[in-house]
Order: sequence, then structure tokens, then C-alpha cells
Amino acid sequence: MAYDDLVPDLERANAARMYDYLLGGAHNFAVDREAADRALTRRADLAEVARANRRFLARAVRWCLDHDVDQFLDLGSGVPTVGNVHEIAHGYAPGARIAYVDIEPVAVAAGRSLVSGSDLVTVTHGDLRQPDSVLGAPTVAGLLDLTRPVAVLAVAVLHFVPGDRTALLDGYRRALAPGSVLALSHGSDDVDDPELAARVRAGVEAYRGTASEAHLRTRAEIVDALGGEDRLVPPGLVELEDWPVPQSARPGTGMFGALSRLGAG
Ligand SMILES: C[S@@+](CC[C@H](N)C(=O)[O-])C[C@H]1O[C@@H](n2cnc3c(N)ncnc32)[C@H](O)[C@@H]1O
Repeated sequence: MAYDDLVPDLERANAARMYDYLLGGAHNFAVDREAADRALTRRADLAEVARANRRFLARAVRWCLDHDVDQFLDLGSGVPTVGNVHEIAHGYAPGARIAYVDIEPVAVAAGRSLVSGSDLVTVTHGDLRQPDSVLGAPTVAGLLDLTRPVAVLAVAVLHFVPGDRTALLDGYRRALAPGSVLALSHGSDDVDDPELAARVRAGVEAYRGTASEAHLRTRAEIVDALGGEDRLVPPGLVELEDWPVPQSARPGTGMFGALSRLGAG
């Protein structure tokens, strides 16, 4: 794999490569595998949580396409794996445009080698905490038409970003056309089941000492980041397995999922 000017940190495990390992991928190093194996001793269902998150991502992308949103800005897109956004989107809308953005060099290099030659998919090495620089990157600005709705995906990433998520996402919302969508999944121990809350907190501990420390948020904080209750697409903020249809047989993940829509509130 060609990294060009991208230099992965081989000394510290991080979320992108641990997640890749949990999903059975090959874009990870010994330090990531050791950290993920340690994490699994603290929270044994982490791989299943990762798979559930990917299923949520696929349903969110489908929802956007069903509602005439065929441009995607995938923030913290991760190492390519089964069911990438462009693969799902192009299965339904061959002209869909997808701009992937990730801070991790391995994710960016793997993404670029997967989509090289496509006019409809780009991969940008960027930090989502800098909305102006992400939106202004030639690989984003040159691909997405911001006068039309865009789906901004922030799936399983904002719990790795400390600070005020609402202000951060406002930086994207300001640039988006009415009808744009924000899709988010986020870890939280603000759940009714105390056993699940304890599992979620064990998951946070599992990432301690890696380059990707996790930060939980309450339901209210996540709704606020999405722009408020009024903007949420039904059924609102729910356990991600239950979006958009409740799956009572599935155990909880301690991750909430929701979509909000600009101009809908
Ligand atoms: C757990 S993975 C989620 C991948 C994908 N969104 C999914 O849900 O399957 C989190 C990703 O967010 C990326 N990430 C973390 N902080 C970031 C930041 N500040 N800017 C861009 N990407 C970031 C990580 O490198 C990693 O690839």
C-alpha cells in the first residue's frame, strides 16, 4: 500500500486500525491488535458493536438515497471494509458522490487505493475538527455541490473527539443546503439498563492509553449536537440497532443513532 506523504504512527494503537481489526480487516499493526485484544477482555461485545454500527451506517445511507440525498461527506470514514458508503450508494444511485475524510493515514491510503480512478469518490486526509479546511479541500469542494443537499455522516467518530460537538457540527451545518442530512452514531452510558451502562464505561476504559480516547455524551448532548429534537428524523435518537425500526431481539450496543435534517425543523 502506498502511503505517499502519509505517515502512520506505529507506536500507538488508534480507533481506525483497532476497528479494522475488530471487523476482521488486514489494515492494522501489532500495536492495534494487542490493544483491541485487551479491549475485548474489558468489553467482550466490541466486535459485535462495530458490526451493528456498520449496519446502522448502511441503513442511514439507504434512507438518504430514498429521500433524494445522493451526496455524502463521510467524516471519520475509517479503513475501507465490507459495505463502504460508495458501494452501498452506487448500488442504488450510480451517480452518487462520496467524499471520505479521515485523519488516520492507513485509512486514507487504503481508501485511495480502493477508489483510485473514480470521478465520483474521493478520499481526503483531514481533521473533521476543522470544518472550513475539510469543506475547502479540493477533493471535497471539487466533488460535492453544496447548493444541493448533502448527507454529512459522523458515524462512530464524535465520541473520539473531545469538546463541543454542537459548535463543531454548526461549522458544517452553516455550509449546507436545506434538506441536507446529518447522520450520527455515538457512544453513551445514558441508557436505562445499568448493566449496559457499565459495559459502555468498560469500553471507554478499553480505549484509555490509545491515541483515540473515548468521550461519552448524554442523550441530551447528542440531540443538541444534531441541532435539536425538532430536526430529528423519526424515530429520533434511539439505540442504533433500533433505527429506524425497533429490533427487540437484539442486545443493546450503548450507541445511539439518529439522523437530523436541515430545514425540517
Ligand atoms: C470507529 S471508526 C468509524 C469508521 C466509520 N465511520 C464507521 O462508522 O464504520 C472512527 C474513525 O474516525 C476517525 N477519526 C477520529 N478522529 C478524527 C478526526 N478528528 N478527523 C477525522 N477522522 C477522525 C478515525 O481515524 C477512525 O477511522
